[in-house]
Amino acid sequence: MIAPSILAADFARLGEEIAAVAGEGEARADWVHVDVMDAHFVPNLTLGLPVAKALIDSTDLPIDCHLMIEDPERWAIGYAEAGAYNVTVHAEAAKDPVALAKNLRGAGAKAGLSIKPGTPLEPWLDVLKHYDTLLVMSVEPGFGGQSFIADVLAKVRTARRLVDTGHLTLVVEIDGGINADTIEQAAEAGVDCFVAGSAVYGAADPGKAVAALREQAAR
Ligand code: DX5
Ligand code: ZN
Repeated sequence: MIAPSILAADFARLGEEIAAVAGEGEARADWVHVDVMDAHFVPNLTLGLPVAKALIDSTDLPIDCHLMIEDPERWAIGYAEAGAYNVTVHAEAAKDPVALAKNLRGAGAKAGLSIKPGTPLEPWLDVLKHYDTLLVMSVEPGFGGQSFIADVLAKVRTARRLVDTGHLTLVVEIDGGINADTIEQAAEAGVDCFVAGSAVYGAADPGKAVAALREQAAR
């Protein structure tokens, strides 16, 4: 699956930018990735619930909210109630990630857990039994356009093995620095869903970029 990140889109035309990846066939995005940053958990500020809700209501594509925020127990549920398809919180920020996953699912969303590049996977394996998505960060969260950190692929391989052997049921998602040069190694490691910001919205035709990434990932 390909999930374009609107962090690299034109913020004055977000509806049109989502429509550009909502075409047909291979050019149609699977999810649209919305990066919420609070200037506390990460040193950058993007958008919050009112804008996310407007985007959810503007498209029939599933919206994948990536909450790079402190105190997700306070805020995440609002995104689920607004109709986000998947709501991902950070393991490093959650105080009670199991209760949070239950609440997200209870509000009708898939529950996602994200780990930063330096955060190991092993301590979270029991918690991940309660989650639907594992978002492995392949850059330090906060900014688009950074270089891919290939070391995180070891965590992807571990997660892939645990899913394939039936120990976990997770969509394995990767986020940061995914482009034509990096998507094949991520696919080889076992990623199910590829977030791509600059590689999609930096292209002249975002739909074509989605199709090209999809084709490369399937090689
Ligand atoms: C970074 C965000 C990413 C970002 C990816 O903190 O979580 O979703 O948009 O952008 P690229 O694909 O340009 O690395
Ligand atoms: Zn993201």
